[in-house]
Amino acid sequence: MMKLIGVIFVMLSLVTGIQLDDPDDPSIRTHPFGTPCSTDTKKAWLDIAIVLDVSTTMGAANVKQIGLSLASELSNYAFGTYDQLFTSRVGIITYASQANVIGDFYQWNNFTEISSALVSLKASTNDSSAKGLTNAMKQALKWIGLDEDGDSSSFREPIVILIAASLKDVNVQVLQNQSQNLNVRNLITVNWNPSDANLTKVLNEIAAPSFNVSKSDKTVYADISWALMQANCFCITAQLSVYDKAKKRIQKYADCYLLNQWDGIEPTRTAMEMCDEGYWNVAVTSNAKQIFVEKDDFLGDFGVDSYYTGLHRDENGTWVWFDYDGSTFPLGNFTDWDQGFNASSAGNCTIAHAYAENTPYLWQTSSCYPARTDVMNTVCQSRACDATHMITTNCGGALEKWKTRKENNVKQQKIVHKISE
Ligand SMILES: *[C@@H]1O[C@H](CO)[C@@H](O)[C@H](O)[C@H]1NC(C)=O
Ligand SMILES: *[C@@H]1O[C@H](CO)[C@@H](O)[C@H](O)[C@H]1NC(C)=O
Ligand SMILES: *[C@@H]1O[C@H](CO)[C@@H](O)[C@H](O)[C@H]1NC(C)=O
Ligand SMILES: *[C@@H]1O[C@H](CO)[C@@H](O)[C@H](O)[C@H]1NC(C)=O
Ligand SMILES: *[C@@H]1O[C@H](CO)[C@@H](O)[C@H](O)[C@H]1NC(C)=O
Ligand SMILES: *[C@@H]1O[C@H](CO)[C@@H](O)[C@H](O)[C@H]1NC(C)=O
Ligand SMILES: *[C@@H]1O[C@H](CO)[C@@H](O)[C@H](O)[C@H]1NC(C)=O
Ligand SMILES: *[C@@H]1O[C@H](CO)[C@@H](O)[C@H](O)[C@H]1NC(C)=O
Ligand SMILES: *[C@@H]1O[C@H](CO)[C@@H](O)[C@H](O)[C@H]1NC(C)=O
Repeated sequence: MMKLIGVIFVMLSLVTGIQLDDPDDPSIRTHPFGTPCSTDTKKAWLDIAIVLDVSTTMGAANVKQIGLSLASELSNYAFGTYDQLFTSRVGIITYASQANVIGDFYQWNNFTEISSALVSLKASTNDSSAKGLTNAMKQALKWIGLDEDGDSSSFREPIVILIAASLKDVNVQVLQNQSQNLNVRNLITVNWNPSDANLTKVLNEIAAPSFNVSKSDKTVYADISWALMQANCFCITAQLSVYDKAKKRIQKYADCYLLNQWDGIEPTRTAMEMCDEGYWNVAVTSNAKQIFVEKDDFLGDFGVDSYYTGLHRDENGTWVWFDYDGSTFPLGNFTDWDQGFNASSAGNCTIAHAYAENTPYLWQTSSCYPARTDVMNTVCQSRACDATHMITTNCGGALEKWKTRKENNVKQQKIVHKISE
């Protein structure tokens, strides 16, 4: 696909590594709990497919209100043509018994046009069936899918917003299958008829985790916008995700982790040189990170009982972590020293060690040379891609992994290094 090649060329010429010059740019030193994903909607880069039920169950008043409210929400975003970085695109499909394409991603170039399309949406006056839902989804999947060459259709992160009031005549199995499609990693379901138990069950089940929102929630449009910005924040490797008890949903952070294992290592190489370019040894600056890295990065499943963290002494003997730009900052309030160890113990690096399966990984000071400690594992961190970090900046993992991710949607959990010269 010629257009895509053009975009990638532009992107490659911009790859310089993560810039943290902006003091407002969230980084680990300023956000030890977890790096917040950007909420700068004006810089989002999403392909948003809106699939809207216009059957009589939804009704004219709801369709009108949804159109107006979505237009109001989307007024916070910037839209652009195919290759404009930091812009989003919108496509709209409505359905009752039949699916009806209002406009695809190429139809509209600015908010004025999108807004007028949204506020002009009309409900059917006589069609109570929702049978067209699966055809509408099929169309949306085609938009966000891969072209026949296996290239992704755009550099943008795809998302489908399904707004439904009934499942009348819908082949639910087909819909469930469609939601399993690898490209539908960001399906938002908006339940416009929460009193319909069947609809509620199906929508809750097919949505991406915590992307099921409901009309009964007063913040429904804010919830949709939250999901959009969360979708625009991703890693190619494991991504810090923490259950938010107050909001009752999983919150993703802009922190990506990857286990690096070495088969062997030169005696002169330190643990702080074990990560690939663009990654740094992990800064375990909160309990949430500690738990995530150990449980959700599958360290136990990989048989890892010890790993090097990024905590090391700098030239002045001060304990420091790495930030995403490779700069360092001092050890903060969160520590998890093993018994018999503290910041005064000998050793310039730190290993986190679990004495048995399913027990915590506790910190021990150690030599910085894996060849001496025989600890050949480390967890590496990189900043997620989000609305302020385009895939041009080596975010979320490496740029060249972007296509692979698009193709198989499999998160990379670890890298194994052969002994290198
Ligand atoms: C939006 O795009 C249309 C069609 O390209 C154009 O006529 C119109 O002037 C644009 N509006 C704005 C506000 O840019
Ligand atoms: C529904 O109404 C439209 C126009 O409003 C009409 O064209 C169509 O034939 C009607 N369909 C049925 C099943 O009555
Ligand atoms: C759903 O997907 C499964 C496995 O891919 C397939 O066997 C089944 O026929 C599909 N069902 C429908 C209704 O499409
Ligand atoms: C809900 O689903 C069940 C089983 O599929 C069906 O028997 C029932 O009629 C459905 N109820 C509604 C309100 O659609
Ligand atoms: C989303 O789905 C889960 C179950 O999968 C449910 O517990 C939760 O209440 C749903 N959220 C909303 C807002 O409906
Ligand atoms: C080490 O201390 C010296 C003298 O206080 C200071 O100039 C230098 O910047 C410090 N190095 C680091 C890495 O903080
Ligand atoms: C540890 O770091 C200090 C500087 O902080 C250095 O003087 C010392 O040689 C290092 N120890 C080892 C064993 O490398
Ligand atoms: C440590 O905790 C104190 C009090 O809770 C807080 O004021 C301070 O900012 C924290 N320091 C770091 C580096 O997180
Ligand atoms: C660190 O540990 C050593 C030996 O266990 C102990 O003597 C020392 O008091 C501890 N220091 C702090 C600051 O806890």
